[in-house]
Amino acid sequence: MKKLHLLAASFLILMISGLSANFNILSADQNVLQQKCTKCHALKLPENYTKKAWKHNVERMAQRAGLTEAEIKSIIDLNKKN
Ligand code: HEC
Repeated sequence: MKKLHLLAASFLILMISGLSANFNILSADQNVLQQKCTKCHALKLPENYTKKAWKHNVERMAQRAGLTEAEIKSIIDLNKKN
């Protein structure tokens, strides 16, 4: 019984540290994307668009989302396509 508790506890710790590790990999730019670009619709992922279409959309959405010039640039750069 005690062993089972230990197992459950270590499983929980693993899960929690895994979760926070996930949050840490989110770059600041991805944070902006997640926070400012999900107010009106679900998260749109840069990799689902061509570079050109992504840039076009980010520029269109920038005003709606209240992005700074620097944020616009870094969010456009989240699309790694050429
Ligand atoms: C004020 C509300 C609002 C905010 C904030 C917003 N969007 Fe949008 N977005 C919309 C609406 C409405 C549409 C669908 C109509 C359209 O395409 O204009 C849309 C559509 C899109 C599309 C899809 C276009 C397509 O045809 O596939 C993308 C990509 C997108 N938004 C990205 C973003 C990004 C990136 C941000 C953050 C910078 C953002 N949106 C913030 C309202 C918003």
